[in-house]
Amino acid sequence: MKKTAFITFEGIDGSGKSTVSAMVASELEKRGFPIRKTVEPTEEWTGKAVRQSIREGNPITTALLFVADRAHHAEQIKNWLESGEIVVCDRYFDSTFAYQTAALEGKMKNPENWLKSLHSFEFPKPDITFLFDIDPKVGLERISGREVKEKFEKLEFLEKVRKNYLSIAKRECKRIVVIDASKPKEIVAAQVLEIILDILKK
Ligand code: TMP
Repeated sequence: MKKTAFITFEGIDGSGKSTVSAMVASELEKRGFPIRKTVEPTEEWTGKAVRQSIREGNPITTALLFVADRAHHAEQIKNWLESGEIVVCDRYFDSTFAYQTAALEGKMKNPENWLKSLHSFEFPKPDITFLFDIDPKVGLERISGREVKEKFEKLEFLEKVRKNYLSIAKRECKRIVVIDASKPKEIVAAQVLEIILDILKK
Protein backbone atom coordinates (compact mmCIF):
# COMPACT_ATOMS: atom_id res chain seq x y z
CA MET A 1 0.00 0.00 0.00
CA LYS A 2 1.30 3.43 -0.93
CA LYS A 3 1.91 5.46 2.23
CA THR A 4 1.30 9.03 1.17
CA ALA A 5 -0.20 10.95 -1.68
CA PHE A 6 -0.52 14.58 -2.54
CA ILE A 7 -3.94 15.18 -4.08
CA THR A 8 -5.12 18.54 -5.38
CA PHE A 9 -8.54 19.81 -6.45
CA GLU A 10 -8.89 22.51 -9.05
CA GLY A 11 -11.66 24.26 -10.91
CA ILE A 12 -13.40 27.56 -11.45
CA ASP A 13 -15.51 29.18 -8.75
CA GLY A 14 -18.76 27.26 -8.33
CA SER A 15 -17.36 24.01 -9.73
CA GLY A 16 -18.13 22.20 -6.48
CA LYS A 17 -14.52 21.13 -5.86
CA SER A 18 -14.48 22.31 -2.22
CA THR A 19 -17.66 20.39 -1.33
CA VAL A 20 -16.52 17.24 -3.12
CA SER A 21 -12.96 17.36 -1.76
CA ALA A 22 -14.38 17.59 1.78
CA MET A 23 -16.71 14.63 1.06
CA VAL A 24 -13.86 12.56 -0.35
CA ALA A 25 -11.50 13.46 2.51
CA SER A 26 -14.07 12.38 5.06
CA GLU A 27 -14.68 9.06 3.21
CA LEU A 28 -10.92 8.42 3.24
CA GLU A 29 -10.77 9.26 6.96
CA LYS A 30 -13.60 6.78 7.61
CA ARG A 31 -11.48 4.13 5.89
CA GLY A 32 -8.63 4.87 8.29
CA PHE A 33 -6.33 6.88 6.04
CA PRO A 34 -4.35 9.67 7.73
CA ILE A 35 -5.75 12.69 5.94
CA ARG A 36 -4.51 16.27 6.06
CA LYS A 37 -7.03 18.69 4.52
CA THR A 38 -5.63 21.97 3.40
CA VAL A 39 -6.49 24.89 1.16
CA GLU A 40 -5.08 27.80 -0.81
CA PRO A 41 -5.25 30.67 -0.16
CA THR A 42 -4.22 29.35 3.26
CA GLU A 43 -5.61 30.38 6.63
CA GLU A 44 -2.16 31.72 7.57
CA TRP A 45 -1.19 35.41 7.53
CA THR A 46 0.08 34.99 3.98
CA GLY A 47 -3.35 33.71 2.89
CA LYS A 48 -5.05 36.62 4.63
CA ALA A 49 -2.78 38.99 2.71
CA VAL A 50 -3.83 37.21 -0.50
CA ARG A 51 -7.52 37.72 0.26
CA GLN A 52 -6.96 41.38 1.03
CA SER A 53 -5.02 41.78 -2.20
CA ILE A 54 -7.82 40.10 -4.22
CA ARG A 55 -10.13 42.82 -2.88
CA GLU A 56 -7.80 45.81 -2.94
CA GLY A 57 -4.53 45.03 -4.71
CA ASN A 58 -3.39 45.07 -8.31
CA PRO A 59 -3.00 41.82 -10.30
CA ILE A 60 0.81 41.75 -9.99
CA THR A 61 0.77 42.19 -6.20
CA THR A 62 -1.94 39.54 -5.96
CA ALA A 63 0.01 37.06 -8.10
CA LEU A 64 3.15 37.59 -5.99
CA LEU A 65 1.16 37.03 -2.81
CA PHE A 66 -0.42 33.81 -4.11
CA VAL A 67 3.10 32.49 -4.73
CA ALA A 68 4.35 33.79 -1.35
CA ASP A 69 1.47 32.00 0.34
CA ARG A 70 2.38 28.84 -1.58
CA ALA A 71 6.08 29.04 -0.66
CA HIS A 72 5.03 28.94 2.97
CA HIS A 73 2.37 26.26 2.39
CA ALA A 74 4.82 24.09 0.40
CA GLU A 75 7.02 23.71 3.48
CA GLN A 76 4.04 22.52 5.50
CA ILE A 77 2.91 20.13 2.77
CA LYS A 78 6.42 18.63 2.58
CA ASN A 79 6.38 18.03 6.34
CA TRP A 80 2.91 16.48 6.28
CA LEU A 81 3.89 14.13 3.44
CA GLU A 82 7.11 13.20 5.21
CA SER A 83 5.17 12.35 8.34
CA GLY A 84 3.04 9.91 6.31
CA GLU A 85 -0.12 11.93 5.82
CA ILE A 86 -2.21 12.00 2.66
CA VAL A 87 -2.58 15.63 1.73
CA VAL A 88 -5.88 16.74 0.17
CA CYS A 89 -5.45 20.29 -1.05
CA ASP A 90 -8.22 22.55 -2.35
CA ARG A 91 -6.37 24.64 -5.00
CA TYR A 92 -2.62 24.71 -5.62
CA PHE A 93 -0.30 25.97 -8.33
CA ASP A 94 -2.60 25.14 -11.26
CA SER A 95 -4.95 27.82 -9.86
CA THR A 96 -2.21 30.39 -10.28
CA PHE A 97 -1.48 29.33 -13.85
CA ALA A 98 -5.18 29.31 -14.76
CA TYR A 99 -6.30 32.47 -12.93
CA GLN A 100 -3.25 34.73 -12.91
CA THR A 101 -2.43 34.08 -16.56
CA ALA A 102 -5.90 35.49 -17.26
CA ALA A 103 -5.65 38.28 -14.68
CA LEU A 104 -2.23 39.41 -15.96
CA GLU A 105 -3.26 39.48 -19.61
CA GLY A 106 -2.13 42.83 -21.03
CA LYS A 107 -0.05 43.64 -17.93
CA MET A 108 3.14 41.99 -19.22
CA LYS A 109 4.42 40.16 -22.30
CA ASN A 110 4.31 36.57 -21.12
CA PRO A 111 2.52 36.10 -17.79
CA GLU A 112 2.92 32.33 -17.93
CA ASN A 113 6.72 32.52 -18.16
CA TRP A 114 6.82 35.03 -15.33
CA LEU A 115 4.65 32.77 -13.17
CA LYS A 116 6.87 29.80 -14.03
CA SER A 117 9.97 31.68 -12.93
CA LEU A 118 8.27 32.57 -9.63
CA HIS A 119 7.79 28.86 -9.08
CA SER A 120 11.45 27.95 -9.39
CA PHE A 121 11.70 26.98 -5.75
CA GLU A 122 11.44 23.47 -4.29
CA PHE A 123 7.82 22.56 -3.79
CA PRO A 124 5.96 19.27 -3.78
CA LYS A 125 4.25 18.26 -7.00
CA PRO A 126 0.80 16.70 -6.74
CA ASP A 127 0.54 12.97 -7.49
CA ILE A 128 -2.89 13.59 -8.92
CA THR A 129 -5.03 16.62 -9.64
CA PHE A 130 -8.77 16.60 -10.19
CA LEU A 131 -9.91 19.39 -12.47
CA PHE A 132 -13.61 20.07 -11.92
CA ASP A 133 -14.74 21.28 -15.29
CA ILE A 134 -17.98 23.19 -15.60
CA ASP A 135 -19.57 25.86 -17.78
CA PRO A 136 -18.85 29.15 -15.94
CA LYS A 137 -22.53 30.15 -16.34
CA VAL A 138 -23.53 27.10 -14.31
CA GLY A 139 -20.72 27.73 -11.81
CA LEU A 140 -21.82 31.32 -11.30
CA GLU A 141 -25.46 30.28 -10.89
CA ARG A 142 -24.38 27.85 -8.19
CA ILE A 143 -22.64 30.57 -6.21
CA SER A 144 -25.17 33.31 -6.89
CA GLY A 145 -26.67 32.85 -3.41
CA ARG A 146 -23.28 33.41 -1.81
CA GLU A 147 -22.04 36.82 -0.90
CA VAL A 148 -19.80 37.89 -3.81
CA LYS A 149 -16.44 38.15 -2.14
CA GLU A 150 -13.97 37.59 -4.93
CA LYS A 151 -13.50 39.83 -7.91
CA PHE A 152 -12.57 36.75 -9.96
CA GLU A 153 -16.22 35.64 -10.04
CA LYS A 154 -17.09 37.20 -13.40
CA LEU A 155 -18.31 35.27 -16.45
CA GLU A 156 -15.91 36.50 -19.10
CA PHE A 157 -12.95 36.09 -16.78
CA LEU A 158 -13.99 32.58 -15.71
CA GLU A 159 -14.33 31.55 -19.34
CA LYS A 160 -10.65 32.43 -19.83
CA VAL A 161 -9.73 30.61 -16.62
CA ARG A 162 -11.60 27.51 -17.77
CA LYS A 163 -9.78 27.60 -21.12
CA ASN A 164 -6.44 27.92 -19.32
CA TYR A 165 -7.27 25.01 -17.03
CA LEU A 166 -8.23 22.79 -19.96
CA SER A 167 -5.03 23.53 -21.84
CA ILE A 168 -2.96 22.77 -18.71
CA ALA A 169 -4.88 19.48 -18.38
CA LYS A 170 -4.11 18.64 -22.00
CA ARG A 171 -0.39 19.25 -21.45
CA GLU A 172 -0.35 17.37 -18.14
CA CYS A 173 -2.72 14.55 -18.93
CA LYS A 174 -0.82 12.05 -16.77
CA ARG A 175 -1.35 14.08 -13.58
CA ILE A 176 -4.64 15.86 -14.24
CA VAL A 177 -7.98 14.07 -14.42
CA VAL A 178 -10.77 16.19 -15.87
CA ILE A 179 -14.05 15.63 -14.07
CA ASP A 180 -17.47 16.56 -15.41
CA ALA A 181 -18.52 18.75 -12.50
CA SER A 182 -22.05 19.34 -13.83
CA LYS A 183 -23.03 15.92 -12.42
CA PRO A 184 -24.55 15.62 -8.91
CA LYS A 185 -21.91 15.93 -6.19
CA GLU A 186 -22.51 12.38 -4.86
CA ILE A 187 -21.71 10.91 -8.29
CA VAL A 188 -18.64 13.11 -8.70
CA ALA A 189 -17.41 12.25 -5.19
CA ALA A 190 -17.81 8.51 -5.85
CA GLN A 191 -15.88 8.82 -9.11
CA VAL A 192 -13.04 10.74 -7.45
CA LEU A 193 -12.91 8.40 -4.46
CA GLU A 194 -12.61 5.36 -6.71
CA ILE A 195 -9.63 6.87 -8.53
CA ILE A 196 -7.89 7.82 -5.25
CA LEU A 197 -8.44 4.38 -3.70
CA ASP A 198 -6.94 2.87 -6.81
CA ILE A 199 -3.84 5.05 -6.48
CA LEU A 200 -3.47 4.26 -2.78
CA LYS A 201 -3.57 0.53 -3.54
CA LYS A 202 -0.57 0.77 -5.89
P1 TMP B 1 -11.62 29.97 -3.26
O1 TMP B 1 -12.86 30.63 -3.83
O2 TMP B 1 -11.41 28.58 -3.74
O3 TMP B 1 -11.51 30.15 -1.77
O4 TMP B 1 -10.36 30.77 -3.87
C1 TMP B 1 -10.27 32.14 -3.78
C2 TMP B 1 -10.11 32.78 -5.13
O5 TMP B 1 -8.73 32.89 -5.42
C3 TMP B 1 -10.75 32.04 -6.28
O6 TMP B 1 -11.47 32.97 -7.08
C4 TMP B 1 -9.59 31.49 -7.05
C5 TMP B 1 -8.49 32.47 -6.75
N1 TMP B 1 -7.11 31.93 -6.82
C6 TMP B 1 -6.24 32.47 -7.76
O7 TMP B 1 -6.61 33.36 -8.52
N2 TMP B 1 -4.96 32.01 -7.80
C7 TMP B 1 -4.49 31.05 -6.95
O8 TMP B 1 -3.32 30.65 -7.04
C8 TMP B 1 -5.40 30.50 -5.96
C9 TMP B 1 -4.91 29.48 -5.00
C10 TMP B 1 -6.69 30.97 -5.94
